[in-house]
Amino acid sequence: MVRASAPGKCILFGEHAVVYGEPAVAVAIDARVQVSMAPCKGEWKLDGNPLNSERHPHVVSLRDAVLGAESSPHSLMVQSELFPAAGLGSSAALSAATCAALLQLVGDEMDSERIATLSHLAEAAAQKGRASPVDTSTATLGGCVMLSNEKESFADWRYTRTLETPDGELSWEIHSVDLAERARDAWLVVGSTGIHSPTGKMVSGVAELLTQRPELRQEITKMGVVARAGVAALSVGNLEEVGELMDLAHSLLREIEVSCPELDRLVEVARSTSLGAKMTGAGGGGCMIALTLNPKATAEAIEMRGGRVIITPLGAPGVRIEESP
Ligand code: MEV
Repeated sequence: MVRASAPGKCILFGEHAVVYGEPAVAVAIDARVQVSMAPCKGEWKLDGNPLNSERHPHVVSLRDAVLGAESSPHSLMVQSELFPAAGLGSSAALSAATCAALLQLVGDEMDSERIATLSHLAEAAAQKGRASPVDTSTATLGGCVMLSNEKESFADWRYTRTLETPDGELSWEIHSVDLAERARDAWLVVGSTGIHSPTGKMVSGVAELLTQRPELRQEITKMGVVARAGVAALSVGNLEEVGELMDLAHSLLREIEVSCPELDRLVEVARSTSLGAKMTGAGGGGCMIALTLNPKATAEAIEMRGGRVIITPLGAPGVRIEESP
C-alpha cells in the first residue's frame, strides 16, 4: 500500500488573470486530499468503481504518464477534507497526491518539479488547454507560491512551467515566497457558498467575455498589478494593506463577471471582522476568503449567512508520502 497527500489552496491574488500570464499568489491550506493505492485484481478502480477517463481524467492521464496504460491494476481510495468543485484546488491536490503515490510505486524520486509538471499537464488536458499551474504548484510545493511572467529577486525561484494553450504558448516562473513573521498571526477563513462551479466553464466564460469586450483586458492587467502589490505587502507583514488589496481584487473579479450574489454576500458579511475579503478561485459559486486576526468572529459571521467554513493559517506543507511499502 502507498499513501500520499497534498493540500488544497486559496488564491489570494490573480485568479483568472494568471491564465493570461499575469502574476498570482496562492497559499496552501490546512485541508488535504489523501490517496491510498494498493494492487488489486481485474481492472483499475477508484473508490470501488472502475477508473473512468470521463469522470477521472486527471488520474487516468497521470497513470498513463507514470506507469503506462498497460500497467498492473491498482485500487485507489480518495479521502478529501476539501469542499469539492469549490475553488480550493481539490482536483490539483488529487493530481499531486496521485502523482506522488505513482512515483513511489515505481521507486522514482519525489521530484517536486516533475510532480508539478505532470499534474499541471493533467489539469490542462481536463480544462481544454486553459489551465495555469497555480493550483498544481501550490498543492506540490505548499507554503505560499507566486507565479510570475519573470523571475522575481525577492522570492525563491523553483522552476519554469510552459504550456501550449489556445492563446499560444504561455510560460510561468514559479516561486516560493517566505511570509513575514506577522503573517503567521493571521488566519484565512474560507467560506463556501455550497454552489458547485466547474473551473473549466468559468475559464471559458472569461475567454468569451474578453472576445466580446476586449476593453476588459485592462482589468486583467490591473489584477496583475494588485497581485504584485499584494505579495510585496505579505512579505513585509503589512496585513492591513494585504486586506485592502483583497477587497480591490474582489471588485476587479466582479468586473469580469466571475463573482455571484452569494459570494458577494459572504464577502460583505466577513468584512466587519476581517482585514479584507474576496472570492477565491474560479468563482460562479465556490468559496470566498477573509484575512483575519479574529477567525472565530469572522467564521461565525459567515456561518450565520449559511456558509460552511474552514479556518486555516496561511500556508501548509506540500505533497508528501504518508505511507510506503
Ligand atoms: C482556479 O483555481 C484558478 C483559475 O485562475 C484557473 C487557472 O488558474 O487555471 C480560475
